[in-house]
Amino acid sequence: KRRVTARDLILAKERGEKWPMLTAYDAMTANVFDEAGIPVLLVGDSAGNCQLGYETTVPVTLDQMTMLSASVVRGTSRALVVADLPFGSYQEGPTQALRSATRLVKEAGVGAVKLEGGERSLAQTELIVSAGIPAMAHLGLTPQSVNTMGYRVQGRAEEDAHRLLHDAKSAQEAGACAVVLELVPAELAAEVTRSLSIPTIGIGAGPGTDAQVLVWADMAGMTDGRLPRFVKQYAQLREQLGDAAKAFAEDVSGGAFPAEEHTFH
Ligand code: KIV
Ligand code: NA
Repeated sequence: KRRVTARDLILAKERGEKWPMLTAYDAMTANVFDEAGIPVLLVGDSAGNCQLGYETTVPVTLDQMTMLSASVVRGTSRALVVADLPFGSYQEGPTQALRSATRLVKEAGVGAVKLEGGERSLAQTELIVSAGIPAMAHLGLTPQSVNTMGYRVQGRAEEDAHRLLHDAKSAQEAGACAVVLELVPAELAAEVTRSLSIPTIGIGAGPGTDAQVLVWADMAGMTDGRLPRFVKQYAQLREQLGDAAKAFAEDVSGGAFPAEEHTFH
């Protein structure tokens, strides 16, 4: 039983197979998804929001990503683990990007990294890939640029759609093993998917991509507050976990826990 590789994803596209990807930030959750057969786990910098309590992904550091990624790798045996390069760990240029990616591979053991941006990240992708580290591109809405772009659907204007398609082709040419498309119109995502030989991974990008990714906390109903329209909730973990905590608290204050079967004499 070997780990899924970046190459397997390209072969899956050739076979016309669609596949799921989920985020994961810790060993225990990652192990659940690995055993459920999710082939690719993303240690997203959405950890900033979901795991570390920040408002955006911007403050997340490479140290934090390394620690979280190492946990996910330790918790899994089959999934390809992909780590996001966090904001500030690759924007200075290819050398910085390769140094950061190398750290995630050596210290955390990830099988691939992901970088936001098309044109602006091509030199970084090229160097990382030439060093033997698979790299994914992330286009459309790129949350590390929230301060200039906000959170809205990308590629609606014809000119923007054109640029996105061009960025996707350039990423493939630079050696990227996949392209994440976040919050782009379905028709555009489908066109990009048809134009590339590497897989596209959609989030809020309609049904026409090769793969689908969701933030696990959104998918499992762990997130507090309103969810984006593109999320489907498959469980209500927040409510269940809250109920469990309340039941435990009641048992303790009422003396029902621990009972005889939980007690040593
Ligand atoms: O950080 C993240 O979770 C991501 C996915 C939404 C693609 O980049
Ligand atoms: Na991300």
